[in-house]
Amino acid sequence: MIVLGIETSCDETSIAVIEGDSVLSNIISSQWVHQKFGGVVPELASREHVKLIIPVLKDALLKSGLTLTDVDAIAVTTGPGLIGAVMVGLNFAKGLAMALQIPFIGVNHMEGHIYSNFLSNPGLEPPMLAVVVSGGHTQLVLMREHLQYEIIGTTRDDAVGEAFDKVAKLLGLGYPGGPIIDELARQGNENAIPFPGGNIKGYPLDFSYSGLKTAVLYHVQKLSREEVEKNLADICASFQKAATNSILKRTEKAMKMNDISTVVLAGGVAANSRLRHQLLQMGEKMGWVVSIPDMEYCMDNAAMIARAGLQRLQNGEHSSLTQKPFATLPLTSKVF
Ligand code: KG4
Ligand code: ZN
Repeated sequence: MIVLGIETSCDETSIAVIEGDSVLSNIISSQWVHQKFGGVVPELASREHVKLIIPVLKDALLKSGLTLTDVDAIAVTTGPGLIGAVMVGLNFAKGLAMALQIPFIGVNHMEGHIYSNFLSNPGLEPPMLAVVVSGGHTQLVLMREHLQYEIIGTTRDDAVGEAFDKVAKLLGLGYPGGPIIDELARQGNENAIPFPGGNIKGYPLDFSYSGLKTAVLYHVQKLSREEVEKNLADICASFQKAATNSILKRTEKAMKMNDISTVVLAGGVAANSRLRHQLLQMGEKMGWVVSIPDMEYCMDNAAMIARAGLQRLQNGEHSSLTQKPFATLPLTSKVF
């Protein structure tokens, strides 16, 4: 089955063509208009998606070597995301599906992140624990079967990617902060500053990142501008250690508590080099199957949406033309 995937939930306009677990093309156009604002401007994102979606579709088809008439179904992100941005992709998908007289399926963006693992590691099978870490989410998701989700741990305040972005901002670095901190941390000593992990009494699988962010702020406020510059790599490395250890610690607990031996990493923060490295090491020690998506599938991309859509289509599901977009959309709620 050939599935065309469409992803426009934030600031990446992406269209992909997949055939089963094989990605024939996955074009991702990142919007640079937001850079000077230090964050994504929703209205600008929608307008950029409108401008980019047809050129991106043409590129995706060209790279796949197929034409629109070869496509069997369309999968599109219906949320969570910036509502105007989601609407651009969703309406485009509806128009294409109508014109081509093929089914389309609405996909939860976070389900897409989880299913990116099946592109990088096609042999994976539930039961598994999905560690979902992005700019908007930090969740431990128990997946006993395909498309079945139980949230067993979540953040009480900021998402981990949000913490990376906020810390980067207070250090005067660019946006998004995650990749910049990751890079700077390579030259730093991660044991230089003992930042707190963010434990919540009585809830061993829940996360908190606001205390960590504030601890970095207080630390920086005590230093002069020159001292911050001089210690930048150590601050980044120490923050990154605290942020990722909090994920690793809870992952280990969740795996043991639920007697699970497969863990998959998902979301933008899955690109973090320390998290990837440490999770692989932990998996080796514990005898787990560990899946980490290739870098191309960690960032927002349409191949993951197509792969999740394929799973739902194979399950006999599809959406109707009354399908709505959603700004918030829990993994456990129905998309259509
Ligand atoms: O999944 P994603 O692209 O968008 C959302 O759905 O939120 O995730 C974006 C988040 C941003 O907060 C970004 O700073 C973070 O992922 N991120 C990273 C890295 N690359 C991206 N965080 C830590 N280390 C990285 N290498
Ligand atoms: Zn995402």
